[in-house]
Amino acid sequence: MKYGYFDNDNREYVITRPDVPAPWTNYLGTEKFCTVISHNAGGYSFYQSPEYNRITKFRANASFDRPGHYVYLRDDVSGDYWSISWQPVAKSLEEATYEVRHGLSYSTFKCDYNGISARKTLFVPKGEDTEIWDVVIKNNSDAPRTLSAFSFVEFSFSHIQSDNQNHQMSLYSSGTSYEDGVILCDLYYNTDDFTGFYYLASSFDPDSFDGQRDAFIGPYRDESNPLAVEQGRCSNKVQTCYNQCGSLHKQFTLQPGEEIRFNFILGIGKHEAARVRAKYQDFAEVDAALEAIKTHWDSRCNKFQVKSPNEGLDTMINAWTLYQAETCVVWSRFASFIEVGGRTGLGYRDTAQDAISVPHSNPRSTRKRLVDLLRGQVRAGYGLHLFDPDWFDPEKADVKPSKSPTVVPTPSDEDKIHGIKDTCSDDHLWLVPTIINYIQETGEEGFLDEVIPYADGGDATVYEHMKAALNFSAEYVGQTGICKGLRADWNDCLNLGGGESAMVSFLHFWALQEFVALAKHKGKAADIEKYTEMAANVREACEQHLWDDEGGWYIRGLTKDGDKIGTAQQTEGRVHLESNTLAVLSGLASQERGEKAMDAVDENLFSEYGLHLNSPSFATPNDDIGFVTRVYQGVKENGAIFSHPNPWAWVAEAKLGRGDRAMKFYDALNPYNQNDMIEKRVAEPYSYVQFIMGRDHENHGRANHPWLTGTSGWAYFAVTNFILGVQTGFNGLTVDPCIPTAWPGFEVSRQWRGATFNIKVENPDHVSKGVVSVTLNGEAIDGAIPEQPAGSVNTVTVIMG
Ligand code: GLC
Repeated sequence: MKYGYFDNDNREYVITRPDVPAPWTNYLGTEKFCTVISHNAGGYSFYQSPEYNRITKFRANASFDRPGHYVYLRDDVSGDYWSISWQPVAKSLEEATYEVRHGLSYSTFKCDYNGISARKTLFVPKGEDTEIWDVVIKNNSDAPRTLSAFSFVEFSFSHIQSDNQNHQMSLYSSGTSYEDGVILCDLYYNTDDFTGFYYLASSFDPDSFDGQRDAFIGPYRDESNPLAVEQGRCSNKVQTCYNQCGSLHKQFTLQPGEEIRFNFILGIGKHEAARVRAKYQDFAEVDAALEAIKTHWDSRCNKFQVKSPNEGLDTMINAWTLYQAETCVVWSRFASFIEVGGRTGLGYRDTAQDAISVPHSNPRSTRKRLVDLLRGQVRAGYGLHLFDPDWFDPEKADVKPSKSPTVVPTPSDEDKIHGIKDTCSDDHLWLVPTIINYIQETGEEGFLDEVIPYADGGDATVYEHMKAALNFSAEYVGQTGICKGLRADWNDCLNLGGGESAMVSFLHFWALQEFVALAKHKGKAADIEKYTEMAANVREACEQHLWDDEGGWYIRGLTKDGDKIGTAQQTEGRVHLESNTLAVLSGLASQERGEKAMDAVDENLFSEYGLHLNSPSFATPNDDIGFVTRVYQGVKENGAIFSHPNPWAWVAEAKLGRGDRAMKFYDALNPYNQNDMIEKRVAEPYSYVQFIMGRDHENHGRANHPWLTGTSGWAYFAVTNFILGVQTGFNGLTVDPCIPTAWPGFEVSRQWRGATFNIKVENPDHVSKGVVSVTLNGEAIDGAIPEQPAGSVNTVTVIMG
């Protein structure tokens, strides 16, 4: 069953049936103001942090995606009313037709009902802290129609998300006022903070307004049947205290064929509303602002465009996977319909991995995130698992509201730095390949010499920070020389404590390989020697202690008592995805062991929806293994198809040269391929999700937690760098694909350091891997393709064989 389709020319997903089994969301905003919005226009806005600067409310975990950013229409002759988005009024789909277009940082809602067609586009202009609702209403009937339009948003009554539920003082310190077509909501009586004011304005002069939610909705009603809309007029009530809203109402008459355009503007800041309202009363400004958003994404997507025989891959790589990865980098992981802003800050490992995917499209945010993470690393080398970058950013010290009735505590050093007991064993290691990838992309080698403070005092260059990370993992090893599991490794629910994690040792090896290549590039003889030796020790320990001969795969780790996790002898948690894929991805496994390990992955973990994290799932609680054994079977870390490590398997297969297998794994997880089976998938087909129910669960195939997952970054990195094989290096660009044998070739347009490379790969012998010749602008190239002048357009031909 399907509910929509991909419109690739416009980089939009078009929802043609609004009764989707779950809200399908989009993200608006590219700078500071963000809105998470569903195809029903349900959702919420925040400014910089979803926890501390909440602008509109959202009721999480309800069966409705409410409230939202709504426009109601009313036929003032019949009294009949509806909303431009299907919800909240939800007219019968027999009577009304709806279409929603989720584009990159904008969403358009269309509705045709009873001779009236209406359209509403929501987006956040660049350079503004506002969200525009651009509305067009047309009379398609053959009689004049008198209609009313009403906006509705419910303002958050505190900066702080949790206050909306818990803190009654906020009820008595916020209020609304009305002046010149603007409803202003102030959060604290007598404040002057920029973030202390929210507003809703309209391009028209309203006929009536409501700043009081309960006046607009009416007693014992909800957003589906607000009293004001039913009556055709707001109550003109603003107030101090209680729950605030922004509703502006206008009545107008349209002749047959006539249309009207107006807008609503939701924003932040006390003195902004009048300026913004005046500016966007000029619709040319609205058009230009939306165009700028489209140009913004064109320029990012165009850094890498592919044309291959796999339409789903092209659709996702050319727009949606990059868009999702950037969403994770820019807004981090605490604002979706699942994570609704209860926490703020950065997850160390998540951010370090997200940032590997977008240095070409968003070098500024990548660099910023790298600096955030380096500031969140302690001298001993590990990272603070979850931290607020503002704690360590001198320029951001006062970003939190100063006059909130709830005091946001400034954490003490002990609150921030919990020491080894709270440390995750993998966090810091992801930083090393991410930094190197950033330098290879941008050529900004000076970044390595930049001095950055440690979270617990002292400072060091970026290069030394990387060494601290590698040294920490060399030191914190168990009896066998394998890295300790500590509080958790990549798998939050694998809590090995004093046990050992195979996955982390493989990751350590990967980081070491990357670092030694950097040390060679920089000519650092002592470091080359030290870290080459460290890598050799890791390899020896891994090969000696982690290979399960009977099964023919790598185990997942050891408990603190030395019991192996993930052997052929076990009936639960027998084969694991993370250790086997990273053994190969890191370059540690030999070709022979690598092939065996990945064959075991295929045999034991593959399903039509992607690769399971482990199988069979754990059924017996075992606290030496961790919380994973207490999660329901087939769910999340316990035997679900956990999306994030799936791309590690694509990279592993690409490294082994098995392009058909890599593509089989890719295609299984690709949401695009599940567009026509939404009755199973439920979630958005344009977004990767955190996990899909595994075969040990009755809802096998159901996808959960869209958008905020490391899958997007890794999927993008794996496809572009390893399947299509276009990689940046210190000295040039290389093209070394690993593709299905059926592919006759493919084309990529890649912008790198200001130059464009139009790459044509030909595969006349239908191999998976192997390059016999490369030419640049007609000349044969031996080795990497060197940097070309900025602005140049270059032709690269690669012949595989
Ligand atoms: C979630 C977390 C991520 C973790 C993964 C597996 O996606 O955000 O940090 O690695 O779960 O436990």
